[in-house]
Amino acid sequence: MSIQAEQLKRLAGPLLRWYDANRRVLPWREEVSAYRTWVSEIMLQQTRVTAVLPYFARFMAAYPTVEALAAADTEQLMKLWEGLGYYSRARNLQKAARIVTERYGGQFPATYEEIIALPGIGDYTAGAILSIAFGRAVPAVDGNVLRVAARITGSRLDVLDAKNRKLFRSWMAEAMPADRPGAYNQALMDLGATVCLPHGKPLCEACPARDFCAANREGCQTELPVRTRKKEKRLERLTVFVLRREGCIALRRRSDEGLLAGLWEYPHVPGALDETAAAAQLAEWGLTPHRWVKRLTARHEFTHIRWEMTGYILDVQGRGPTDWLWADGGERRKRAVPSAFERFTREITEEERG
Ligand code: ADE
Repeated sequence: MSIQAEQLKRLAGPLLRWYDANRRVLPWREEVSAYRTWVSEIMLQQTRVTAVLPYFARFMAAYPTVEALAAADTEQLMKLWEGLGYYSRARNLQKAARIVTERYGGQFPATYEEIIALPGIGDYTAGAILSIAFGRAVPAVDGNVLRVAARITGSRLDVLDAKNRKLFRSWMAEAMPADRPGAYNQALMDLGATVCLPHGKPLCEACPARDFCAANREGCQTELPVRTRKKEKRLERLTVFVLRREGCIALRRRSDEGLLAGLWEYPHVPGALDETAAAAQLAEWGLTPHRWVKRLTARHEFTHIRWEMTGYILDVQGRGPTDWLWADGGERRKRAVPSAFERFTREITEEERG
């Protein structure tokens, strides 16, 4: 066994005792099924527990079973997901639910190979489902767990390198206890979220690993984990039009491929247009500005892209391109507009309230 796995092996006993005393009470822990574990883990990717809680409750009320999710109206599913972001997660959930329904008769498969073959499920999520829902000793290594493992072992391997993450995973696999693997993995998640904190100082005096943690011994907690590569986000400027006509707002549907696929948005064009250029764009769409109400700016960060948006709110005459939808309040409540446009959506609501 590697020296790192030996170091990590000391963790299991103290960690599980710590978990039994300190674990967070969460709905997917109180009632466990493969379906609930799966949905919660997908929601928790890139999203904080407190933000997930209301979505998880609404999701389980709307789609209590895999079959219900498979049969769900996709537009309604997107609406339920609105605000959580990374919408491909919701689309993949439904694709996978259809596969589980058709291929496995609605019974979630219980082997690593079958689970990882489902859309939207990677190594981490497969490990989480297998350990939490099926009691199998498979590690679930996400950013939190890498941080805990890097600090306990004192490893300076770059965790942004896939080869190194694989190595960490193999150490975790060796160091995991055969009994209570689900509790062990969730204890690591809790430890990473509440004690072994990423920014600033971790709360080492409260940590079950304090007596054998290399980073605590050497005082290098804030230097670990090592992440050397830093990619700059691509900056995209765009001009967003909130076009109003007879109590309706112009919406158009995004393409079925790529960023925010299939969601609804306010018409926009590349570049930061001044009013003259914006007026020319309106003319190109066959619209006549009637009243310019407001100019505003907003930004939104995706994982790889940053949007800087200039927005114009205005009353217009004309219909615009044929694929646009002039949506009244009721219609807009049924269409998912991603939170990248939240600033504009909020402005519309406030303008309507007067
Ligand atoms: N983050 C990711 N998975 C989690 C889980 N099962 N419980 C709490 N936080 C998590």
